[in-house]
Amino acid sequence: MPLKPWSGRFTQATDKLVEEFNASISFDKRLFRHDIMGSIAHARMLAKMGVIGKKEADKVVSGLKAIEKEIDAGKFQFTHALEDIHMAIEKRLMEKIGPVGGKLHTARSRNDQVALDVRLYLRDEIKEMQNLIKNLQKTLTDIAKKNLDCIMPGYTHLQRAQPVLFSHHLLAYYEMFKRDYERLADCFKRVNVMPLGAGALAGSPYPLDRDFMAKELGFSKPTDNSLDSVSDRDFCIEFCAAASILMMHLSRFSEELILWSSQEFSFIELSDAFSTGSSIMPQKKNPDVPELVRGKTGRVYGNLTALLTVMKGLPLAYNKDMQEDKEALFDSIDTVKDCLKVFSPMLAVMKVNKDNMREAAQGGFLTATDAADYLVKKGIPFRECHHIIGRAVAYCIKTSQGLEDLSIDEWKGFSKAFDKDIKKTISVEASVNSRKTKGGTALETVKKRLGEIEREIR
Ligand code: ARG
Repeated sequence: MPLKPWSGRFTQATDKLVEEFNASISFDKRLFRHDIMGSIAHARMLAKMGVIGKKEADKVVSGLKAIEKEIDAGKFQFTHALEDIHMAIEKRLMEKIGPVGGKLHTARSRNDQVALDVRLYLRDEIKEMQNLIKNLQKTLTDIAKKNLDCIMPGYTHLQRAQPVLFSHHLLAYYEMFKRDYERLADCFKRVNVMPLGAGALAGSPYPLDRDFMAKELGFSKPTDNSLDSVSDRDFCIEFCAAASILMMHLSRFSEELILWSSQEFSFIELSDAFSTGSSIMPQKKNPDVPELVRGKTGRVYGNLTALLTVMKGLPLAYNKDMQEDKEALFDSIDTVKDCLKVFSPMLAVMKVNKDNMREAAQGGFLTATDAADYLVKKGIPFRECHHIIGRAVAYCIKTSQGLEDLSIDEWKGFSKAFDKDIKKTISVEASVNSRKTKGGTALETVKKRLGEIEREIR
């Protein structure tokens, strides 16, 4: 048996440089389990359709199962000479069960085989990633519940804007991760179609039961065009796009954690177990974990760009360029999973400095809008109210006090419409709790949303 299954028409050995340059085995070996799973289904289908004998199929199947055990046990030799995981396993099969192993590749090409393997593999990874997202959402919900009535300044332009509940702020991330989960579920639908039977590109002259294969392997249906089946990598790109958006969310969250843990904010403190020190400055405690998550977002975006660029301008159907899909895809999978895995436990043990948040919400005239709204209720047009309160703020800045420190006489100096009840209207608590519109930050509204969320993530 020659080393390379395709060597029949060649008179020269492959150059060593080419052998290494061409090989994908160093990274596609992670597909071994799914390659074997696909091959077992293919062999069974071939036997069912009478293309190979039942006994032959049995031999192939038990040979493949034995190879899976060898790989699991670390006893399998992966060499560049065998190019990729598909050829490596086929070669080993023939070593183990003899020439009958050569029947497995009937009615199949590596082109439809690799498309199948990546789809099988990615399906599992998407499910795992969705579980990790759910986990993170649960952690967020727990922290929100524990700190339900904690008030913090809400920001626009990173300037204090209006007071909000910390729980409301956290649940904004819940909503982002919910969309990430849904995007993956949507991507899954297009991953979950079965390409085998496309052959190299044109379909197969054998009587293949593609529906049986799809069912055996848990796919929703076989693909509809053989050329598309072997040249489509949209599903990898879609996954990388969903992964990029998810990383963008984690990166924004990381940025906030980094800011919040600075001495300037002191809203939270990351646990020692999730921080690192400086090799020179003894006092330092650095938020390396969220910084790295923020940084790793770059490589996940890069992988998306790489895939889009690899696929751009490729003629139909398969081209070797497409072997370049794997490292980008695998790297995005690994990176996102690593980030999600560390994020939940880091959040779960971080300390929330409620008092500092509450104090920060007190300064900065955060309830100025509420004071303007107070005058609106007295019938004054909003633009005019805005101006009146603006003057009051300017006065407070000049006299170094907060709106809440103004006496009723001072208020009346700005507008006769002010009454004693302005005091309680502009309290931070009143401001938060007045925002009862669906999706607003009022305590009762956030509580209601938390109730819905608990049903969503059950
Ligand atoms: N290692 C190849 C890849 O990842 C498998 C498909 C090879 N097909 C071919 N016609 N050379 O794309």
